[in-house]
Amino acid sequence: MVIVKDERMSRKRTYLMCPPERFTVAYAINPWMDTSAPVDAELALKQWQLLRETLTGLGHTVHVLPAEDGLPDMVYAANGAFTVDRTAFGARFRYPQRALEADAHRAFYAEQGWAYVEPTEINEGEGDFAYLPEAYGGMILAGHGFRTEAVAHSHAQEALGRPVISLQLVDPRFYHLDVALAALDDKTITYYPGAFSAGSQRVLAQLFPDALVADEADALAFGLNLVSDGRNVVLNAEATGLAAKLASAGYLPVPVELSELKKGGGSVKCCVAELRP
Ligand code: ARG
Repeated sequence: MVIVKDERMSRKRTYLMCPPERFTVAYAINPWMDTSAPVDAELALKQWQLLRETLTGLGHTVHVLPAEDGLPDMVYAANGAFTVDRTAFGARFRYPQRALEADAHRAFYAEQGWAYVEPTEINEGEGDFAYLPEAYGGMILAGHGFRTEAVAHSHAQEALGRPVISLQLVDPRFYHLDVALAALDDKTITYYPGAFSAGSQRVLAQLFPDALVADEADALAFGLNLVSDGRNVVLNAEATGLAAKLASAGYLPVPVELSELKKGGGSVKCCVAELRP
């Protein structure tokens, strides 16, 4: 008898990305950034283009937000807003160096005719918010501790009308939720428990008993900073350990090289905002 493994199902996605045309490490606002380490701008752009082509090659739509002068971190498009139910919950950045990025994202959503919620507290968009449309009928997971203020979580819950589960990040290397946890499909997550407080670890274990649990090496390789369509999981090529775990869970890992963008403290997911209609 042949035992057929469950086929993971992909769903077509729409993403927003911004090319690293102005990318440099000009300041250090996370432990990965070293202003004395050189960045190969040409390689950064090539790697980014390959990431975009990987996503379009999987059948997804990618919108491109033009890079702007003086905003070297704008390539990390995930931080510009968080979208659910065709509503964009706008970002308000913690550090002044990135503040103006929020305006570029706001203009994009206005032009596309999306509802836009003005932020009243600091929150770094999809960097600290994840959405699981089929977990408990549609649930938002939200991080605080380094960038996003916990009070922004309750604002998001009121504005978006979806339950928001607040999770506390405790390890400065994993300063955004999206470097510690990712949605693999509409109801399944993968995460590194050590990035979270003891209480938040218990909450995650209770809500997601079937989660794929990652280890510190997976997280340090930026493996959790992934983009999944439910079947294909695009992740940093260094994260070979996590790729193997994903494969044995029935997903298709799609490794991409993003060495240059890692110098800014980000990888695949940081570069990709999902637009949820
Ligand atoms: N240099 C950027 C910062 O520190 C990196 C942002 C990474 N983005 C993310 N979604 N984790 O703000």
